[in-house]
Amino acid sequence: NDLKNTAEQIAVEAAHLVRTAWVRMRSGGEVAVDTKSAETDVVTAVDRESEELVRARLERIRPGEPVLGEEGGGALGGGVTWVVDPIDGTVNFLYGLPAFAVSIAAQIDGVSVAGAVVEPVSGRRWTAVRGGGAWLDGDRLSVSAADRLDLALVGMGFSYARDRRVRQGRLTADLVGQVRDIRRRGAASLDLCAVAAGWLDGYFEHGLHRWDWAAGALIAREAGATVLLPGEAADLGEDATFAASPGIAAELRAALAEGGAAEV
Ligand code: IPD
Repeated sequence: NDLKNTAEQIAVEAAHLVRTAWVRMRSGGEVAVDTKSAETDVVTAVDRESEELVRARLERIRPGEPVLGEEGGGALGGGVTWVVDPIDGTVNFLYGLPAFAVSIAAQIDGVSVAGAVVEPVSGRRWTAVRGGGAWLDGDRLSVSAADRLDLALVGMGFSYARDRRVRQGRLTADLVGQVRDIRRRGAASLDLCAVAAGWLDGYFEHGLHRWDWAAGALIAREAGATVLLPGEAADLGEDATFAASPGIAAELRAALAEGGAAEV
């Protein structure tokens, strides 16, 4: 609980910084933008400022504990490591779409034990403690009771490399005829939280980084989702992240595997 409280408190503060910058940007303020792995993979000055704030607060509250962050890098340490995405959904942030979040998780030996995902625009706070449940603001979360794939709402994500996106698009095209519908929200942490809340029945993406899933996957799992992390499901591809309500998990996994997920 201490770790969860720390993650939540700092994520709320960073979310405030991000929201202030977003409001300023929407009223015409300039934000410096760079590109990363591809021209479409962007980072803004606000991502960097948010991560700097998180690192400074962690150093004050939990001195000496390593931090692995999307913008500043780092590595997992022996005890608690803090895994930080200072803005998950940077492209949404830049376009004015309100679906982005600050994500902070505490991991031990690479396993998330506490986490918080805070949405700057709505103010929603998603939190979880390993073995202690998942929460949205004051409410306990639990996944949907979905038990039919053909009536399931499924979130998908696409990585930044263009040829790979095309293969992921084919996989999505194959799936869309087998489910109720598909969503692509543009923030992996929020997709995982949506599974936790029953706003999605399942979610699938290749190529996420640890900071994208560290808090959200714990929140989904603690809400009762079946969660598979990168390296855990060869039939879906070594870098697959999968979360689903238990009633459709096996069917969705099989549909993705049959659609060629492992080859993407
Ligand atoms: C991205 C978002 C997006 C997902 C990408 C991630 P970022 O994170 O979560 O939904 O499809 O794979 O990289 O770059 O905005 O922190």
